[in-house]
Amino acid sequence: MKKKILIMGIETSCDETAVSIIQDNGTKPPKILANIVSSQEEVHKKFGGVVPELAARSHLEKIEMITKKALKKSRVKLNNIDAISATAGPGLIVCLSVGFNFAKSLSLALKKPLIAVNHLEGHALSPMFKSNIKFPYLLLLISGGHTQYLVVKGLGRYKRIGTTIDDALGEAFDKTAKILGFGFPGGPKIEHYAKKGNQRRYVLPKPIINRGGCNLSFAGLKTAVFRSSKTIKNKQDKYDLAASFQKTILDIIYKKTKIAINEFKKNFEGNQIIVAGGVAANNEIRNIINKICLEEKFTSIFPELDLCSDNAAMIAIVGLKKFKKKKFSKLDFSVKPRWQLDKNAKFLKGAGVQL
Ligand code: KG4
Ligand code: ZN
Repeated sequence: MKKKILIMGIETSCDETAVSIIQDNGTKPPKILANIVSSQEEVHKKFGGVVPELAARSHLEKIEMITKKALKKSRVKLNNIDAISATAGPGLIVCLSVGFNFAKSLSLALKKPLIAVNHLEGHALSPMFKSNIKFPYLLLLISGGHTQYLVVKGLGRYKRIGTTIDDALGEAFDKTAKILGFGFPGGPKIEHYAKKGNQRRYVLPKPIINRGGCNLSFAGLKTAVFRSSKTIKNKQDKYDLAASFQKTILDIIYKKTKIAINEFKKNFEGNQIIVAGGVAANNEIRNIINKICLEEKFTSIFPELDLCSDNAAMIAIVGLKKFKKKKFSKLDFSVKPRWQLDKNAKFLKGAGVQL
């Protein structure tokens, strides 16, 4: 009988302390035995965003306890784990260091391989817990720190075809929510209050909608929301602005995703688009992607909700794929606060972009 493989995943790149244990028995998609996520929402709420030092301290306080919880939940003994995988970037350096150094100590103590994982690759492969995913596929990665269209050709093989030239989509949701006084994290709040509002009430800009291929831009939209917020008089005005903001996002996603799909069709076989990252939890975004898929004869795949936002199961699945290919990391591997999936893609953020 084929040996079962047990992989531990550790994630501390931002404000979630997470540990997962997954099992692969060689045939079916791997099974998640434990996926423990401890959010720091309460710690950062009053600051309206993540404070790196506080986040790192909280990871330090919790990492051991979360690991014990994951072992207990999965009924796996630490000694039986085959490899320790952990996020090594991109992310906040102080936060990454906590989880990755913890993984190094475990690897050393247990004499088991250490596997450094790119957080974005975790999002990219998070749908692999379902069985029907085929390379290559188009990935729309929408989170608090990243917004990219990527062609996923295989493990470690990515081609970025579009990216935000300023803010990430999750950041735009969070900043809009902050302006409207809805709190942090803003995405779910905007989605909730938008249901009560009139999406046609405010006309907001759609930056670079007609240029730049499937690159995106949200900074001008945020500024426009800020300006419009000055005229707000009551709750209904707030709901209307939230609804108008979300509708503008949907229009941008509709147009740019169509461009990305057509770009994909020109160069690759395949008909799947996967939407991953925290913002992929948004139902309206899911609906617009499904509409596009009907028009373009594409299939949409969304990870389960608990695998959309930051978690360690997605880190463990990358760990598993690398384990099978014996892609281990040395103990002197350093965390990489900036680590792109497509090695040839330029850093566009803040640097200006040719459109
Ligand atoms: O992937 P994630 O958990 O963390 C990062 O790697 O950034 O994404 C977090 C982001 C936040 O900006 C949050 O506001 C957004 O995902 N988000 C949403 C929704 N749920 C979470 N944005 C829009 N609609 C939602 N329902
Ligand atoms: Zn993430």
